[in-house]
Amino acid sequence: MDTVFQSNHPLVKHKLTKLRDKSTKPKKFRELIREIAMLLAYEATADLGLHDTQVETPMGAAPGALLQEKIGLVPILRAGLGMVDGVWEMMPSAEVWHIGLYRDEKTLRPVEYYNKLPVDPTVQVCLVLDPMLATGGSASATVGILKKWGTQRIKFVGIIAAPEGIHVLHKAHPDVPIHVAAVDSHLNEIGFIVPGLGDAGDRQFGTG
Ligand code: PRP
Repeated sequence: MDTVFQSNHPLVKHKLTKLRDKSTKPKKFRELIREIAMLLAYEATADLGLHDTQVETPMGAAPGALLQEKIGLVPILRAGLGMVDGVWEMMPSAEVWHIGLYRDEKTLRPVEYYNKLPVDPTVQVCLVLDPMLATGGSASATVGILKKWGTQRIKFVGIIAAPEGIHVLHKAHPDVPIHVAAVDSHLNEIGFIVPGLGDAGDRQFGTG
């Protein structure tokens, strides 16, 4: 699928291995989520639009280029929260818009509980941040919310995806590129990615 980008970066692979490790404690886990998110967002933003400009250096004029689109970072609560800071550091003018969804344990369908988007869109490009793309329900619902809001361009940045989740998100939103560190084997009967890393929310927030 030419809209799925699995990072090949050695730093991503190294950090992902540490992240998966069941002996990794929440403090280290949060650090790794932050760092991997940064690296993936760097790759995911390689095609952002620029406009030409000039800048005065102490030695004279130099040609320059500045970002032309307003970026929105959209973490899906809770687990997406840990991906915000690292990405935000690289693009401090981005706006952050939170979307609250949880998966109903029985149906595995996303249930929306937080959305304070204003009526009119304020950004042109949105990076949806969520470490896990499992059934794809949460990501698809979030992209749907952002499209309805009027966002022109949306990218999904996750850490681990199941093939099932990729299929669902791609089918619902074929225009949305999917950037991840890894595509794993499958989902188990309770909707967890295998081998995955367990529950990304619980492991970040120490609630497992
Ligand atoms: C997890 C994960 C995603 C979602 C993925 O969140 O962080 O948001 O499940 O599953 P899906 O692709 O099947 O929709 P969870 O519902 O556990 O909530 P939490 O982040 O608040 O713990």
